[in-house]
Amino acid sequence: MKLTVPEEPAVPDVGDRAAESTTTAASTESTAAESTATGDANESAASNAYALVGGEAGVRTLVDRFYDLMDLEAEFAGIRALHPATLDGSRDKLFWFLSGWLGGPDLYISRFGHPRLRARHLPYAIATPERDQWLRCMAWAMEDVGLALGLRERLLTSFFETADWMRNRAG
Ligand code: HEM
Repeated sequence: MKLTVPEEPAVPDVGDRAAESTTTAASTESTAAESTATGDANESAASNAYALVGGEAGVRTLVDRFYDLMDLEAEFAGIRALHPATLDGSRDKLFWFLSGWLGGPDLYISRFGHPRLRARHLPYAIATPERDQWLRCMAWAMEDVGLALGLRERLLTSFFETADWMRNRAG
């Protein structure tokens, strides 16, 4: 029997880095304060993920590297072909989405409402090879922009859950 899939993508869990990072510049002070006040461990961990990636500029750099690699590298030609000729819109949408997903400002939701990510991917044939290309491309981008190994591993685990949930074709 298939498990019910969550409507919201997984929130990255940066584990014990949460404690470590509360003393560093958090994404926004209000988010950090709220997390502490509510004692919401997930929210706190996610805020730290946004800060650890480098805030707005860091998320933008990561997304740009991700789409540059998708555009340039032959091994990502399969998923590149699913995207529009120009990637400008895709860059913006992934940047807005990841900003909130990592615990920063909810830029995507404030523009479009609930992400309904799985539904929005249904027009694109996504099976295991497409999932794995996306994840490989993101892993490469995270390495290129210089994220620490532990952070990359934790984020990749969360990306895997979301990417796997996006599969809509057998194979
Ligand atoms: C599993 C492999 C995946 C493939 C092949 C894929 C492919 C695509 C394609 C072709 C689009 C349309 C691009 C456009 O309209 O410009 C898209 C949109 C999007 N993707 Fe993915 N995607 C995958 C996984 C993911 C994951 C894991 C995330 C988030 C962590 C994500 C986030 C988004 C977002 C936010 C949009 C914009 C949705 C909209 O507002 O229309 N995708 N994706």
